[in-house]
Amino acid sequence: MTGGEPPRRSLTRVETLSEIGLSPQWRLRWQRSVCRVPTDATTSPMTVPVAAATPEARTDPAGSRAFAGAVPERLQGIASMAWPELRQSVATCRTCCLCEERRQAVLGVGDVNADWLFIGEGPGAEEDARGEPFVGVAGKLLDAMLAAIDLQRGHDVYIANAVKCRPPANRTPEPAEIAACLPYLRRQIALIQPRLIVLLGRAAAHAVLGDVGSLASLRGRSLEYTGPELDGRTIPVVVTYHPAYLLRTLPDKAKAWEDLCRARALMRSAKAAAGGPPSPQADERAGR
Ligand code: URA
Ligand code: SF4
Repeated sequence: MTGGEPPRRSLTRVETLSEIGLSPQWRLRWQRSVCRVPTDATTSPMTVPVAAATPEARTDPAGSRAFAGAVPERLQGIASMAWPELRQSVATCRTCCLCEERRQAVLGVGDVNADWLFIGEGPGAEEDARGEPFVGVAGKLLDAMLAAIDLQRGHDVYIANAVKCRPPANRTPEPAEIAACLPYLRRQIALIQPRLIVLLGRAAAHAVLGDVGSLASLRGRSLEYTGPELDGRTIPVVVTYHPAYLLRTLPDKAKAWEDLCRARALMRSAKAAAGGPPSPQADERAGR
């Protein structure tokens, strides 16, 4: 510390909220529109609205490399990988065109036994350079959003992206690229077995739920993820805005705060349903 500077104390929850522009006086609006449409469990991990949202169906059939990524041997191989193999496979993957301009593939970061899984779109310039998701400006906001619900990167939280390689000039990944990378994301979900998945933005929603319309139409809905690798288990899913979007669209931060509160309530229910004790330490920290 430099001379004369007072020691910094950590921010209270209310201070954190106001620091990121979230006012705690917002009230929750509960919406319970359950949508759970059965899909073909052999090809799709989704239980949510879109029936034809298989990786193959969402892949460019015009001979792209992504389409080649749907070959059964590749899918089966990835579906049985442990973390070290998965890491190695992603690091050397050349299944879609995104491999061409990446510096390195970015698998994900955090606690591999986490209850919380946050999924973004894809690495940006800083993530590509450092090999970790959400370390740039959007990542700072994500960290603040986590802190607002008493979470911290790496502690009971895992952060991943829909695509593991940086799209050139930070463009939105193509559906074919998302489909090519989806087996890796599915394997991450199967290995982590989180209690809750939070999808940050449309690309993540597209990857996990299929091409299901606008982000606004997904927010506040009761959604679930499942797949053959989960042996019939379903994982609740919350869709919210991507932090980079929130940085550009301040008024929607209030909606993101609603989504986070909803996610926190769902997590509590999931823990209660599993018979686990609520965390008194976390409640105490949050002044509840
Ligand atoms: N945006 C994302 O979606 N993911 C990152 O890792 C960084 C920015
Ligand atoms: Fe492979 Fe995914 Fe990278 Fe495409 S984005 S090259 S599928 S790791």
